[in-house]
Amino acid sequence: MNISPERYLVTSALPYANGPLHIGHLAGAYLSADVYVRFLRLMGKDVVYVCGSDEHGAAITIKALKEGKNPQEIIDKYHDLFKVAFEKMGISFDIYHRTSAEIHHETSQEFFQTLYDKGEFIEQESEQYYDEEAKQFLADRYIIGTCPKCGHDGAYGDQCEKCGSALSPTELIDPKSTISGSKPVIRTTKHWYLPLDKYESWLTEWISTGYKDGEHLHDPNDWKNHVLGQCKSWLEGGLQPRAMTRDLDWGVDVPQEIEGAEGKKLYVWMDAPIGYVSATKQWALDNGKDWKPYWQDKDTALIHFIGKDNIVFHCLIFPAILNAHGDYIMPLNVPANQFVNLEGDKLSTSRNWAVWVNEYVEELPGKEDELRYHMIKNMPEQKDSEFTWKGYQDSVNNELVNNLANFVNRVVVLTNKYYEGAVPEYDENLDFISPSTQDYDGYHDGEMLQLHDDLQDLNEFLRKFEFRAGLRKLMEISSQGNQLLQFNEPWKQIKEDPEQVKVVMNLALQYISAMSVAMAPFMPFTADKLRALLNLPELTGIGELDQVLQDLAEGEMLIPAGHKINKSSHLFTRIDDNVIEAQVQKLHDAKAASAAAVEAETPAMEPIKDTIQFDDFTKMDIRVAEIISAQKVKKADKLLQLELNMGGEQRTVVSGIAEHYSPEEIIGQKVSLLANLAPRKLRGVMSQGMILMAEDSDGKLTFVDPGKDAEPGSIIR
Ligand code: MF3
Ligand code: ZN
Repeated sequence: MNISPERYLVTSALPYANGPLHIGHLAGAYLSADVYVRFLRLMGKDVVYVCGSDEHGAAITIKALKEGKNPQEIIDKYHDLFKVAFEKMGISFDIYHRTSAEIHHETSQEFFQTLYDKGEFIEQESEQYYDEEAKQFLADRYIIGTCPKCGHDGAYGDQCEKCGSALSPTELIDPKSTISGSKPVIRTTKHWYLPLDKYESWLTEWISTGYKDGEHLHDPNDWKNHVLGQCKSWLEGGLQPRAMTRDLDWGVDVPQEIEGAEGKKLYVWMDAPIGYVSATKQWALDNGKDWKPYWQDKDTALIHFIGKDNIVFHCLIFPAILNAHGDYIMPLNVPANQFVNLEGDKLSTSRNWAVWVNEYVEELPGKEDELRYHMIKNMPEQKDSEFTWKGYQDSVNNELVNNLANFVNRVVVLTNKYYEGAVPEYDENLDFISPSTQDYDGYHDGEMLQLHDDLQDLNEFLRKFEFRAGLRKLMEISSQGNQLLQFNEPWKQIKEDPEQVKVVMNLALQYISAMSVAMAPFMPFTADKLRALLNLPELTGIGELDQVLQDLAEGEMLIPAGHKINKSSHLFTRIDDNVIEAQVQKLHDAKAASAAAVEAETPAMEPIKDTIQFDDFTKMDIRVAEIISAQKVKKADKLLQLELNMGGEQRTVVSGIAEHYSPEEIIGQKVSLLANLAPRKLRGVMSQGMILMAEDSDGKLTFVDPGKDAEPGSIIR
């Protein structure tokens, strides 16, 4: 439990350079990390924040194939787009690197070589499809054929998206290479596997107790529940050796000194996380620093910000790789976020259902902080959240304009009006109505201490990765400021009790000065504007919050009497209905256009099957059942073993939904169960029935949900 580490190394997941940045990315791994590192820097901590583009793997080559470009063109295009989008949104990386860089290839090869030399890999042969025309082995996704389960003729080597079956390429009937269209042949190929099973026990210990080799590294209580839950369920399902190499022509070469390395590349999930290390190395080179302490000194806090789909890689596989290497520290925390939905639907690049960051900054220029604010306020910290344009408008108009900008504006206008813009001197013995007690017991020094405590709370939230709560605290401080004015009505008192008005106005100015620093992690552009308005020194972003806290604790002023501020300018402006309507319209138009494009390529709908008689239907006994427990099936990535309560009896069912649902999220889910299907054995488990699933055009499976009020055992007809 490293309460005050000597330094921090913070990472955001390296995005695949195969498509532009949308708000889902932003909310997942980038805004969270940015708030955190800005906060750390403001507290005077030594922190390095690294990221970069993930430029290898099938995600890139498939995109290149689709667009008829070569992979290099694809990665260059999206790497540049990412860089600009991140910069515009104020994501303050110390370096935005890329995995195609030479230093990254060297670093990941060294890693591989070290593990190889230490004997950490096992070499294993397997049979794989090979395209004789394209002269290359085919990754599962590069093979299509007819599904042996349902007869669908566009099934992929790893999965049939029609029936959801998990497949291996050799099961496909009539397999074809998607690269050349030719019939692939089976060849034997050798790969290097990391025996994850060997690391299972220490991973379990490390995840659940925070101990490794007798040393206390982190407190599992500091980890998010959904992260721990996912790790534990992977561990309970059992880990298998995972191939760390691939037969590909795009990626990092397996070090050529190793026998049999020819034509082999590193598995993208081996090379990409090492991208964090190579980015740190490049940063150190650029800044005359040493990278090693950031990765190898145990007084460093290593923190990975990611989306929930990356949990297994950052919490199990990469730690196993680091551990196998031996010289590296483990992450202190992996505060993964869940997903953001958009206007009631899942974000989807392929369906063009997204708010694209580069379009946002073009269409709503100067409103970067408004987006940051709204996304942080709704950050999917513990569960999925929802972005709606209406919600965005409400956040801006009701909170940023009516609360924050209003407070600042009133203070600045009144200071100019009453005191020609100079912060007033005041009599510290005069009382006024305190915004917290709403009574005549407010004194300047007491309220300054209150402000200190509120900022301390804000700090505490950010330290614990509770960014929503931290932002709420900032807005509470602003509300308090508004109430200070509301209760004491300087605009009336200026005639009757001008001395009291001076105390109140001075205090209000201290509030705003504190806020100009405390808001910087969330809204850095607005913080700069506010500093300029107050005629205070520009923020360096280093140590200033720490200084504010010290000053407040010691009763020092944050903005001294006599200091001249500038004239008012509005920090935020209202968003009109027509702006919102246009954005919503644009979303729907884009989706319709992309659906039309897809339709032009593919037949519209699965044809309706032959007519059946009512008797055929009544043969099926479909019941409401409730999932009471769920676990992964060993050696089967796609299967979950479920225990169901069906009213009078309990059933065990094996279902191919493991890639769509994690075991812990479906406990308590009501499902529709085909209860009189002949039982059959799947991976050694007898499955007594079949759960009905709906499959959308993306192959995504969802439960046919009878509703939470449906009673287990009820007949569906
Ligand atoms: N490119 C991956 C994704 O978008 C994330 C890679 S994170 C890293 O899901 F650790 F591998 F870098
Ligand atoms: Zn199928």
